[in-house]
Amino acid sequence: MDGLHIENISMRFDLPDGTHVQALQDVSLEIKTGEIVSVLGPSGCGKTTLLNILAGFLAPTGGQVRMNGHVVQGPDAERGMVFQKGALFEWMSVRKNVSFGPRMKGMAKPERTEIVDHLLETVGLQDFKEKAVYELSGGMQQRVALARCLANDPDVILMDEPLGALDALTREKMQGLVLKLWKETGKTVILITHSVEEALLLGERLIVMAPRPGRIYREYNLPFADNAVGADLREVKKVPAFGETRDEILSMIWEMEEEIMGRAEGAA
Ligand SMILES: Nc1ncnc2c1ncn2[C@@H]1O[C@H](COP(=O)(O)OP(=O)(O)O)[C@@H](O)[C@H]1O
Ligand SMILES: [Mg+2]
Repeated sequence: MDGLHIENISMRFDLPDGTHVQALQDVSLEIKTGEIVSVLGPSGCGKTTLLNILAGFLAPTGGQVRMNGHVVQGPDAERGMVFQKGALFEWMSVRKNVSFGPRMKGMAKPERTEIVDHLLETVGLQDFKEKAVYELSGGMQQRVALARCLANDPDVILMDEPLGALDALTREKMQGLVLKLWKETGKTVILITHSVEEALLLGERLIVMAPRPGRIYREYNLPFADNAVGADLREVKKVPAFGETRDEILSMIWEMEEEIMGRAEGAA
């Protein structure tokens, strides 16, 4: 029973005014070890809720998640999270941020130093070890966040719009880095994004979610992530199939948003 099994997950939030939000309904998905999966969908379709359930931060009101056979019942180092921003210790050095997890685990210093040095080199921060995080650019901070997550050696890396706050060029570089880390480490990656292009590039499997209730709407198996490893991402985006799939998904999400807007107007 290897991998991540999402079995009929539902999540209902009961609100103080007596109404409720069905953030997720009957979401089922099987993710194999080592897969990279991107999740796309309009705002409010339950992407963050799903990721929080996978991380174990939130218990679903229905269904369960199993990871390598056991039921997920809370956060665990086997499942690491990379947030969009703000989850680093800003006053601490890059090195201390990345070594935080291993230190908490009680790992001996020489081993810790070796792991941290290796990871900082992998993400291209070897010359910034002693800098405080607040001194770094947004892109560099996300490199620290990736290295810190990897330092805990998780089996699954969960990312909630990790590149959403970056400028276009930095973002493109970071997409390449995510692909490289995925290939080099063999870890399972689940990445939420608002960008259709990013979802196409960073998903061997791309899941489109729909809102009200939050659910899986479409699923694609795509060749782009594999082709993009170590390649020029702009060349990958020029492939006709890339553009065709992008347009198809854009129209799909556009229609969903139109429908949401229509309903909101109808209610007003
Ligand atoms: N803690 C909560 N309490 C009440 N409603 C929530 C809570 N978290 C999320 N929601 C609602 O659940 C829905 C899905 O939210 P979310 O998972 O954040 O969507 P996404 O990340 O796709 O934008 C939204 O309607 C949101 O308002
Ligand atoms: Mg979200």
